[in-house]
Amino acid sequence: MKLLRSNIIALAILLSVSGFGQGLKDYYKDYFPIGVAVTPQSLTGDEAELIKSQFNSLTAENVMKWEKIHPEEGRYDWEAADKIVAFAQANNLKVRGHCLVWHRQTPDWVFKDATKEILLQRMKEHITAVVSHYKGKIYAWDVVNEAIDDDGNYRESQWYKIIGKDYIAKAFEYAHEADRDAILFYNDYNMESAPKRQGINKLIQKLISASEPIGGIGIQGHWSINSSIADIEEATSMFTQFHLPVQITELDVSVYHHKSDPQSNYTPEMEERQIILYKSLFEFFRSNKKYITGVTFWNVSDRHSWLDNFPVKGRKNYPLLFDQQLKPKRAYFEVVKF
Ligand code: GLA
Repeated sequence: MKLLRSNIIALAILLSVSGFGQGLKDYYKDYFPIGVAVTPQSLTGDEAELIKSQFNSLTAENVMKWEKIHPEEGRYDWEAADKIVAFAQANNLKVRGHCLVWHRQTPDWVFKDATKEILLQRMKEHITAVVSHYKGKIYAWDVVNEAIDDDGNYRESQWYKIIGKDYIAKAFEYAHEADRDAILFYNDYNMESAPKRQGINKLIQKLISASEPIGGIGIQGHWSINSSIADIEEATSMFTQFHLPVQITELDVSVYHHKSDPQSNYTPEMEERQIILYKSLFEFFRSNKKYITGVTFWNVSDRHSWLDNFPVKGRKNYPLLFDQQLKPKRAYFEVVKF
């Protein structure tokens, strides 16, 4: 009898990950799309099958960033990003564009010998080319990423130093001119920290009162088993006052608290704490479905996560809902149980 029960459970899991049963996207169909950040390489083999059965939105992990898509002045490299968009179209998935203006992964030539006018011109050219290339295929763009520092002031990026704080409004205007239907997001991390959240709040308020075409707020959601659900709820609730859509754009839950934590196996204690956070996060997301219009995981499974190399190179992490064999973890079943 016991054997029969465990066989039935195993079959149910197999069906769900092999595409015959329900995936995350199906459990959440009355709430919001469930997305995942991918590389073109993850769109083949068993990962592709998992993606198709579980998710209904894609974000390019890296290949739409400036250094990849526009490596030299006047030269765009669309190939890798086009593969992701083509896979999405063939399988009926939405695509979030990520990201147009950021202080990282932007090649040096962009800032070389740039006056304010030159840099604005380069930014406009880039945004116009990329957004137009995917017009009608990408429904939402992270237009500006991480412009506010942890202390709540403008980040002293090259963008800020050369153009001044108006680069943010300009980026939204250029993106809107290129695709009037795309929903344009401001995206950032660590919004649980009060000073940062206040700074972002002021920025959003300013953009809205100047009638800039901001259409949503992206909360990256790089959390850890140490994160406080109360702080996350507080941050998210503050942004809902703008009556703009909020999306969780880069969700993962690190099993380490600190940079100094030593490499560890995935212990039962880590797993328990991760389950508790995932469960409460999704309860909270569901109860705010009026505002939350998308939740995207950053990477597919524990087989590979950017957290394996950040903030400590080579420290294996286990931050997602699928394990290294692509099997749903216990946290998965808590997220879909409601
Ligand atoms: C930030 C960026 C993402 C990605 C992650 C780490 O959150 O927005 O594009 O680079 O860091 O992988």
